[in-house]
Order: sequence, then structure tokens, then C-alpha cells
Amino acid sequence: MDSRNSIEVKGLAKRVADAGGELSILEDIDFTVEAGSAVAITGSSGSGKSTLLGLLAGLDVPSAGSVRLAGRDLFSLDEDGRAALRARHVGFVFQSFQLLPNLTALENVMLPLELAGRSAREDARAMLDRVGLGARLHHYPRTLSGGEQQRVSLARAFVVQPELLFADEPTGSLDAATGATVIDLMFAMHREHGATLVLVTHDPQLAARCERQLVLAGGRLAADGRA
Ligand SMILES: Nc1ncnc2c1ncn2[C@@H]1O[C@H](COP(=O)(O)OP(=O)(O)OP(=O)(O)O)[C@@H](O)[C@H]1O
Ligand SMILES: [Mg+2]
Repeated sequence: MDSRNSIEVKGLAKRVADAGGELSILEDIDFTVEAGSAVAITGSSGSGKSTLLGLLAGLDVPSAGSVRLAGRDLFSLDEDGRAALRARHVGFVFQSFQLLPNLTALENVMLPLELAGRSAREDARAMLDRVGLGARLHHYPRTLSGGEQQRVSLARAFVVQPELLFADEPTGSLDAATGATVIDLMFAMHREHGATLVLVTHDPQLAARCERQLVLAGGRLAADGRA
């Protein structure tokens, strides 16, 4: 296993200005994720899970601390550098899907392949088939249901077969059967390609499928358990 696919988090903090002064969202976060492992991040609503995931992927910048992944110190790179690193190594599934509204399902999934300079149409079509959307290729996001949009966003994250897979509530809008299909696909990616998987979930059964569970409470790491 390539140790470049490990994630090292040191002293990570996120604070924002608010009316009363400074609001602390995350403090003193330290952990390392082994390359090729699967980790669940759990914790109550507002505990900082999405904020942490965004920092791990370099979508946001911390107030303090560092994240090392893909062999790089993430925050020594500028925004373009982080975007380039993400395009090569990271698949991200957003809690709010973040599909581009003016692109069809197929075009949304083709985009990361095109950014990576790879031929796109057939791979994108095959991945949409795998998430059960083979008959929705040319739909725009606004004409897809919430669960369908979530599956397009999963297909977009998986299609480049990234070494690092981050997913924020990937089954939040799905019924049990569709959720199970998507989870199986996610773990298949993790196994088949040795992808490191970090997922945020409120679902204890899904969390239990990961070999390790990090629990956030009030912006701090409250527990770090290995199954
Ligand atoms: N840019 C911001 N400015 C101010 N407060 C913020 C900002 N981003 C997040 N917060 C606050 O930080 C806290 C953590 O937010 P976050 O989205 O990380 O929670 P979460 O654990 O993902 O919750 P959920 O389970 O509801 O998705 C929340 O109280 C939120 O209001
Ligand atoms: Mg969240």
C-alpha cells in the first residue's frame, strides 16, 4: 500500500469571526488515517463533521494546524495547487451534492475525467449505470430527485477511481435499498483500488462497516475507536 494515501492531521483548528467575537468550530484535532483504511466520522449535528471533511480535502483552510495527504502538506499549497491535487487524488461527495445545474447528469460525471485529461463519455456512462441511473443520463439536476442527485454526485466522485475518497452523509437522501447499493459500491471502490475512505455518517450500521470510528463532540475528537 502506498503510504502517500495516508492522511496526517496535526493540531487542526477552525475558528470564524462572529458577532460575539470568535466562534470555535474545531479545536485540537489530531489523527492519522492509514493508507487504504476506512474511517467513519460520527457525532451530533453541528459537531464539526462537514467542516473537518472539507479541511481534509483542502476545500477550506484551517485557522491552525496541518493536513498531509498525497505526499503533500496541503496548506503549503495555494488554492490552485490544492485544486490540482484534488483533481488527481481525491473524490468528494458533498452533503449538498453540489452538481453543476447547467450540465446533465452525464456531463457532471464526465467533468472530473476531462479535468484529469482522460476520455470520459463511456466511463461516465458506465458509472451512472452502476448507481442505477443509466436511464437518466441527459437529465439536468433540477429534474432529478434528491436521491438521484446524490447518486450522480457519488458517480462523479468515484469515476476517476481516486486514491482518497471523502463522503459526507452519502446515503442521507436514499431509501434503504438504494443506500445499500451505493454503500456496496463505495466499499467495492475502497477494496478494489485500495482507496482510503473517510465518510461522515449518522448511520451506526454504516459506521460499523469501517474499521475505525472517530467521534466529534463540540468540535473536538471525543473518541477514536477501532472495531
Ligand atoms: N462558515 C461558517 N461560519 C459560521 N459558523 C459556521 C461556519 N461553518 C460551520 N459553522 C458552524 O460550525 C458548526 C459545525 O458545522 P458542520 O457543518 O461542520 O457540522 P456537522 O457536524 O457537519 O453537522 P450536520 O450533521 O448537521 O451536517 C455548526 O454549528 C455551524 O453552524
Ligand atoms: Mg454536515
